Amino acid sequence: MLTGKKILLGITGGIAAYKAASLCSKLVQQGAEVRVIMTGSATQFISELTLQALSKHPVYTDTFDEKNPQVIAHIDLADWADLALVAPATANIIAKMAVGIADDMLSTTLLATEAPIMIAPAMNVHMYTHPAVTRNLAELTGRGVLIVEPGSGQLACGYTGKGRMEEPEAIVAVLANYFARQKRVAEQPLAGKKVVVTAGGTVERLDPVRYITNDSSGKMGFAIAKAARSLGAEVVIVAGRTEVSPPAFSEGLTVTRVESALEMYEAVNAIWADTDILVKAAAVADYRPKQIAEQKMKKSGETMTLELVKNIDILETLGRSKMGQFLIGFAAETDQLEQNALDKLRRKNCDLLIANDVTAEGAGFGSDTNIVHVYDQDGLVQSLPQLSKEEIGLRIMELAAERLTGEFK
Ligand code: CTP
Repeated sequence: MLTGKKILLGITGGIAAYKAASLCSKLVQQGAEVRVIMTGSATQFISELTLQALSKHPVYTDTFDEKNPQVIAHIDLADWADLALVAPATANIIAKMAVGIADDMLSTTLLATEAPIMIAPAMNVHMYTHPAVTRNLAELTGRGVLIVEPGSGQLACGYTGKGRMEEPEAIVAVLANYFARQKRVAEQPLAGKKVVVTAGGTVERLDPVRYITNDSSGKMGFAIAKAARSLGAEVVIVAGRTEVSPPAFSEGLTVTRVESALEMYEAVNAIWADTDILVKAAAVADYRPKQIAEQKMKKSGETMTLELVKNIDILETLGRSKMGQFLIGFAAETDQLEQNALDKLRRKNCDLLIANDVTAEGAGFGSDTNIVHVYDQDGLVQSLPQLSKEEIGLRIMELAAERLTGEFK
């Protein structure tokens, strides 16, 4: 995946700079072309000569040391790169990137490049958790900068905690995955396919101002919808109540808002014949009030009993009438995950079922991350570690595309 990729490696001044030599060497071994920029502080930790020998190119340290009069070095490098990787990235370069300071060769080049940027932070645990660093990293994440999170362990400063730069092998693997993903997106394996994604929680009204709902935020469903769109599908989102806004309307992506399970069923059923993949990420109420009061209900008595009736099971109903559609269900479980997941998968005739333990930290409703296990009719397909919902969305849709079209592995 790295053959011929042009990687601009920025090295800043932390003790982890010594690991940048191994990183550079591994990138070159994987076939990447590497150009190195070092900050003045980085040269205190590791020599330019080492990086020059490993990258087989001169190392840049000074904005005004123009090696080739035909070009302006920092612009030339900025334009040349397929990706800029800053490893290690100190709190200082992170802050400079966040506010747009360009006061040396590296920060100037990073400001000038339109290539994707990846950083591997490394610093003392207290620096890493400082609100300023947290804010700066959030700013960079929002701008699309990819962050290879530091690991936890013994730090050079004597502390134990988070802040140790990820190992070079792991950074190379993240880069390879990044380029593999880019390739898949470029292939548009879901082009010409219609993907319907239900998201959020249903709202079952009791009266004009009250309702029964659940904690579903809509984040997982929206992430799946964005992933499907990025792989080329025409996407229809059918969303109930959500905590976050759906992706902005754009060509190939529409959002239909519904309230109740019945409305959700009607919206999905209306386009069912035309659907290639249905992802039922919504948390649908199993029961609804037997009666919806037309006026606001008045209190009376010390207790009150609500009578509920069973809702339609959308997934099960559509699962029974499949005509080649690829059906992906979800299972939010608190216990006996595998058994419940496989039971739901078979009962609802799904092609894939995504199960998550909603009680696990970093998983389930409202969280930005999830930990899921993917099942098919034969059993467990894969267990994913804690990942952002965006990443899980992509993994699920890549798997669906692979199963549906067999177009890529
Ligand atoms: N689902 C649905 N219609 C319902 C209930 C659930 O389409 N009335 C779908 C959900 O969107 C999800 C899957 O079925 O994709 C499993 O939902 P879940 O709430 O985990 O399971 P239930 O079938 O409701 O089973 P239980 O309440 O027993 O866990």
